[in-house]
Amino acid sequence: MAIEVTSLTAEQIVADSKRYTLYDWQAQSKASPLAIDRAEGVYMYGVDGRRWLDFSSQLMGVNIGHGDKRVTEAIARQAEKLPYISPFQAFEGRAILGRRLAELWPGDIEKTFFTLAGAEANENAVKIAKMVTGRQKVLARYRSYHGSTYGTMMLTGDPRRWPNEQPPMPGVVHVLDPYHGPQREVDDAQTALALLEETIELEGPHTIAAFILEPVTGTNGILIPPDGYLQGVRELCTRHGIMLIADEVMCGWGRTGAWFAVNHWDVVPDIITTAKGLTSSYAPLGAVGLAPHVAEYFDENVFWGGLTYNTHPLGVAAAIAAVQVIVYAGAILVLYLFVVMLLNLKHDDRYHRQWPVACLIGATLVIEGIMLSFVRGRAIPPAPANTETAVEGLGNTEALGDVLYSTYLFPFEVASLILLVAMIGAIILAKRDLLEPKES
Ligand SMILES: Cc1ncc(COP(=O)(O)O)c(C=O)c1O
Repeated sequence: MAIEVTSLTAEQIVADSKRYTLYDWQAQSKASPLAIDRAEGVYMYGVDGRRWLDFSSQLMGVNIGHGDKRVTEAIARQAEKLPYISPFQAFEGRAILGRRLAELWPGDIEKTFFTLAGAEANENAVKIAKMVTGRQKVLARYRSYHGSTYGTMMLTGDPRRWPNEQPPMPGVVHVLDPYHGPQREVDDAQTALALLEETIELEGPHTIAAFILEPVTGTNGILIPPDGYLQGVRELCTRHGIMLIADEVMCGWGRTGAWFAVNHWDVVPDIITTAKGLTSSYAPLGAVGLAPHVAEYFDENVFWGGLTYNTHPLGVAAAIAAVQVIVYAGAILVLYLFVVMLLNLKHDDRYHRQWPVACLIGATLVIEGIMLSFVRGRAIPPAPANTETAVEGLGNTEALGDVLYSTYLFPFEVASLILLVAMIGAIILAKRDLLEPKES
């Protein structure tokens, strides 16, 4: 028998939500929620039919937009089959997502511990750093937000921490970062690193387990570090045996134009944490990625932690699909840019002869992209999940992929890239010519 859901009016929804549930970060009398019925693409729709443009993708987490059927159907399929299983067991989604993250995490980060949200991911990251190093202190920056559980609130540097210090958690040391607010200039990387090093020396490097930071700071102001800062932090941490924890809860999953913000500076943290965009917020899931030298510690030592909902199947299904949607969105964007470029060439008389060539290059790049995603496992193939078995006769897919890639696709890719750059150059030149006044 289906459970009946009554339809409430917008006023009832707001009144009962306010009366019976507690709202975040405000005195309850000040809460003024909207009664939302559904959301689709970039819009959310009120029960009263009004439409809002969701400029912030809710809490900066619905990275792929609302209502994507590929994700909702993946969750529904998982819910039908196996909505929950104890974290002591294995299931297909766990295996697929684990492997997928190992491919996407920066550098050689491979093993993942799943949580329910960003704060839990940071809590566990810090616990892991302390277990592995045997040290007690954690450095965090004043201009930071790391979550609102007790531990992560204490890591958080901004004033949201103050009312939560009941009492302050021992062992957290806050440090300055390159930004000081509008009153003072932004430090260059060298100055910021010198201040950081001084604190490390004064605290005693051998007492510090970890330095947690948002590579691109989120709620404290969308702060991009000066070039060289993150590389310098990496070097300081390595030199002193301090674990670098990159909190990519907000800045991960394409939000800065790369899979992860650290990728912009080629920095590989010891531990990376994420949530939000991992499932595009379609279901709760957080993750802690561990570099091999961190993960190895737990080969023989007990991981003293656990969560009833570690690797929750619904979150896992949402993540597999949502990450794949980002992959496709990237491919579609490239395709879109190509079409724009092709049209540009077609409509410019002087370049019409290049148009078929450009078409050919575009088509080869698209085919190559598809082949790459199949062959290299960079994208989950848009085929049944048991693709592995379909190519069993050919041996290991990855080995096969590597051979195909190095023999055929790599030279092909380099050639296409050179042609692509040439095409872009041609378009830019064409535009410049068009803008210049013609001599009569
Ligand atoms: C950088 C950062 N870390 C951690 C968190 C906490 O994540 P959650 O609210 O999922 O616990 C947030 C949330 O906004 C965040 O922006």
